[in-house]
Amino acid sequence: MQSPKRYTITAALPYTNGPVHIGHLAGVYVPADIYARYLRMKGKDVAFVCGSDEHGVPITLKAKAEGTTPQAIVDKYHEIIKNSFAEFGISFDNYSRTSAPVHHETASEFFTDLYKKGKFIEETSAQLYDEQAKQFLADRFVVGTCPKCGFEESYGDQCENCGTSHNAQDLINPKSVITGNKPTMKETKHWYLPLNEYQDWLKQWILVGHKEDWKANVLGQVKSWVDDGLKPRAVTRDLDWGIPVPVEGGQGKVLYVWFDAPIGYISSTKEWAAERGIDWEPYWKDKDSKLVHFIGKDNIVFHCIIFPSMLKAEGSYVLPENVPANEFLNLEGNKISTSKNWAVWLHEYLLEFPEKQDVLRYVLTANAPETKDNDFTWKDYQARNNNELVAIFGNFINRVVVLTNKYYQGVIPEPGPLSATDEETLKQLTKYPEIIASSIERYRFREALSELMNLARLGNKYLAEEEPWKKIKTDPERVQTIMYVALQVAKGLSVLCEPFLPFTAEKLRKMLHIEKAGTSAWEEVGKEKSLLPAGHAIGKAELLFSKVEDKEIQIQIDKLEASKTADASAEVPEQKDTIGFDDFTKLDMRVGTILEAEKIPKTKKLLKLKVDVGIDVRTIVSGIAESFSAEEVVGQRVIVLVNLAPRKLRGVESQGMILMSDTADGKLSFIEPDQDSVSNGERIS
Ligand code: MF3
Ligand code: ZN
Repeated sequence: MQSPKRYTITAALPYTNGPVHIGHLAGVYVPADIYARYLRMKGKDVAFVCGSDEHGVPITLKAKAEGTTPQAIVDKYHEIIKNSFAEFGISFDNYSRTSAPVHHETASEFFTDLYKKGKFIEETSAQLYDEQAKQFLADRFVVGTCPKCGFEESYGDQCENCGTSHNAQDLINPKSVITGNKPTMKETKHWYLPLNEYQDWLKQWILVGHKEDWKANVLGQVKSWVDDGLKPRAVTRDLDWGIPVPVEGGQGKVLYVWFDAPIGYISSTKEWAAERGIDWEPYWKDKDSKLVHFIGKDNIVFHCIIFPSMLKAEGSYVLPENVPANEFLNLEGNKISTSKNWAVWLHEYLLEFPEKQDVLRYVLTANAPETKDNDFTWKDYQARNNNELVAIFGNFINRVVVLTNKYYQGVIPEPGPLSATDEETLKQLTKYPEIIASSIERYRFREALSELMNLARLGNKYLAEEEPWKKIKTDPERVQTIMYVALQVAKGLSVLCEPFLPFTAEKLRKMLHIEKAGTSAWEEVGKEKSLLPAGHAIGKAELLFSKVEDKEIQIQIDKLEASKTADASAEVPEQKDTIGFDDFTKLDMRVGTILEAEKIPKTKKLLKLKVDVGIDVRTIVSGIAESFSAEEVVGQRVIVLVNLAPRKLRGVESQGMILMSDTADGKLSFIEPDQDSVSNGERIS
């Protein structure tokens, strides 16, 4: 595409079942934001859209686990996610949510349109079913062995190990996530998108047409799916959380979350355009619009195969020009995990490191998993902050601003004739906009950022060689020129750092007393008309970056370690097989009081007890003698299972069982009512 008229930039809609962590940021949101900010600085027409992905099984599972509703879950996390993105400077033009009416409408219409055009296959077939939960088992409701790589915990729709996307029935040894049961098969009707019909077209469009400009990791995954042969994919589900299937026979069914979520990009654009009173359609339908999807590698199949096939089937939409998917970011050597709390959560980071948004943006970009998985460590965070941001960028700016204030009361001096070094430095400066731009436009954000730092290095080197602090005594006139040149580099940095370090850019503009860059500022860096003129007054020096101390990092490392231990102690043995309520009601448990106790001779564990259980006083043999002496249990309030079949232990008939809990160190403890007023014989229910 030569010169696009407008850019539609999407960032994967985050699932709304938890907050956003550094893995999401490094993989998707930071690079997308750099790209969007850069284009805006170049005066491009940009729609940068995102929103919360509020449907799908993980949200219903989370609601179940927390004893609440899916709506309550998404309301909670939508707020957290939206606010933390804003505070982190992710400059979405619009952040919507898939529960928004505009999205329900848009997704319904999209489905209906494909339905009317005959783009779906309607098929009734046997699907995995959990008899006990009365629930069809698709997607994350079922785990089993991946047919492709043999990973035993693959989900029904996608294997997290090898990334393959499959149908739930393809899993080997499937198991219900809800009950642990082995599923049975039950007939149900669904609508399928026949991906096989798009296979040749996809191959041509991506593997041939984009073989030069798409990332190798993306092309590789696409090739592997296409080589395996694409199959029809169900785009509806038997669920009650989602967008109702809007056609005849769709009662009780919803759209598959991966059908509705990418349409969320379109609805978010609609919502944004409506607010501004402009037309959304050109952003999605004009062939001069450039659509770019920023995603993580687990989303490649959906953005390179399924969604494009949907768009193609509809017929009037543009297709993505690129899908620069990133690999994964690990944390301190381990895979980031929401369930194990092995993560650095954005909302917590913002609380613990207020005003350090740019440090995290910097570290995540400098170490972005662009071509392979990478590791985030707090030591690296500290080192990059202290040795790069503080020592290079911050140090240069600080010297320039301090010296200008010291020598000239903050007023930019009139330069004298330029030396060869001055000329060369200014010439270098004019090259950076193009150098950085070319990396950004090829989605090489790490490279772009390291070039930005090279510009700061250039400034430092210039000052170190020119030594204005020495020459001020011997050749003060020369120092005027040196400071003039150095100030131009500082101004260039303030413009070129904006996409990466927006908070720093703003601070720097304030310090240099300059306005936010206009739409030609990028190209004009270092050029005559954009130079800071002699006579312009700058402000006082303020530290752009501050050192991160060992102890701050230690707190973070300790916090992670603590979540490891918490995780280990939370590792309770798997729960026993599920029982029905009827099974539970068969148990007759009563409050009682131990009246008498004696050790049964020649045993280690057994006490013979007389217990008042309200309905009678009975004999119970209990294996608690290693934890309690006979004397100390007399008078103890207890809970007794009274209808347990009597059995003889060491010749004594036991007529019930006392409920005990087992602490980690093996010591038993009694379960008792917390109020004395509870009388013997009261039922536990
Ligand atoms: N919610 C998905 C995830 O976090 C991403 C959805 S992207 C969209 O993996 F295209 F569907 F919006
Ligand atoms: Zn697999």
